[in-house]
Amino acid sequence: MDPADALAELLSPSGRVNPYPVYELLRAHGPVTSAGPVFFVATGYEEVDAILRDPRFGVLDDALRDQFLPGWRESPAVLSISRSMLRTNPPDHSRMRRLAAGAFTPRRIAAMRDVVVAQADELIDGMLARGRDGDPVDFMDDFAYPLPVGVICALLGVPTADRGLFRRWAGELTGVLEPEISPAELAMADRGATELRDYFTELVAARRRTPTDDLTSALVQAHETGGARLSGDELLANLVVLLVAGFETTTNLLGNGLVVLLQHPREAAALREHPEFAPGYVDELLRYDSPVQLTSRLSTESSRHGGVDLPAGSWLMLSLGAANRDPRRYPEPERFDPWRPQIHPLSFGAGPHYCLGAGLARLEAQVAFPQLLRRLPGLALAGEPERRVRLTLRGYATLPVTVGDPAP
Ligand code: HEM
Repeated sequence: MDPADALAELLSPSGRVNPYPVYELLRAHGPVTSAGPVFFVATGYEEVDAILRDPRFGVLDDALRDQFLPGWRESPAVLSISRSMLRTNPPDHSRMRRLAAGAFTPRRIAAMRDVVVAQADELIDGMLARGRDGDPVDFMDDFAYPLPVGVICALLGVPTADRGLFRRWAGELTGVLEPEISPAELAMADRGATELRDYFTELVAARRRTPTDDLTSALVQAHETGGARLSGDELLANLVVLLVAGFETTTNLLGNGLVVLLQHPREAAALREHPEFAPGYVDELLRYDSPVQLTSRLSTESSRHGGVDLPAGSWLMLSLGAANRDPRRYPEPERFDPWRPQIHPLSFGAGPHYCLGAGLARLEAQVAFPQLLRRLPGLALAGEPERRVRLTLRGYATLPVTVGDPAP
């Protein structure tokens, strides 16, 4: 199948739900392949990693957005993401990232372990209470969503009572991360973005009046001390991105990862016995079914990657999900094997935009999986989980499980 047809297949509902066979069709054309005029797709591990680190590539800036996304300034969804660190290039990117980075140092993340353990325990208690009579519970509703929301809200200082608000808004907004979006989906994304901006406008006003020691207050302070450090738009955009990136992705790691563990009982039993194996397991789960499947970059100068000339102005779709299954990097890539040496999945990206929350996401999953397996030894799938029809953020809409008897 030619690359343009394979790409169309990838963007179809069935391709979004199961992209892995389509990645192999694209890979057959080489680790980087042309899929249209100045449009390329990279599926090779080495190539995706190198392009993400190559300073000749950047994220879409305003001038290019004008060219590729006419009317984007009218879209609250595109605006709220494009003013954040996720979609800006140096020097703005480095300035914004530095301001938030203090909250994500390894020491600050390690200090959150107790919060994560306590929240996970409480959620497992809830699952046990609801599933006591053998009734299925939805793992997405009861665990995979509330755990990361609770943790990122604690970090941002979002009041506990408001945590239920974000799932729908974030689900709508993240539609704009898809490579193609319909007008109806864009309208929904705009609605979610508007709700989130309104919410954070109020929280910012509250923290301006009474600062606390949370990340929102730290960013408000960076804005107050002379807007040069962080403009008002940037403040709101980064708060929205921190919240949304902080849970949509981790929610999917927990859902995708649980299904893989339940499908591999021998490996799950080993993790139950040896929670200290969790770091290798989590990295292999990230590789095997990445919660973020793709990102994109634009080249500002000509370059050559994977034996292909990429002229200045080329647009590249970088498939993290395909790179994570590159057979040149991972023997038998379709096999879940937590004992692989040097896993280093590309699920958190690489280079200057490398995920700021990678340490936090790893901590949550490294705590959650052993704790779930230990406290719920009879946890089992109860019917077919249902995928969201999304390519970029890959996860489940529903994941029914029965909890079994609690561990003695
Ligand atoms: C960036 C994945 C969890 C905050 C990214 C990028 C990826 C990613 C692939 C880079 C995007 C690009 O290069 O275009 C993930 C995955 C997660 C996760 C798979 C969970 C399993 C988190 C968490 C936070 C977070 C918990 C916490 C706030 C961010 C931020 C950026 C980012 C702020 C932008 C960094 C920058 O542009 O410099 N993430 N993420 N992420 N992530 Fe995560």
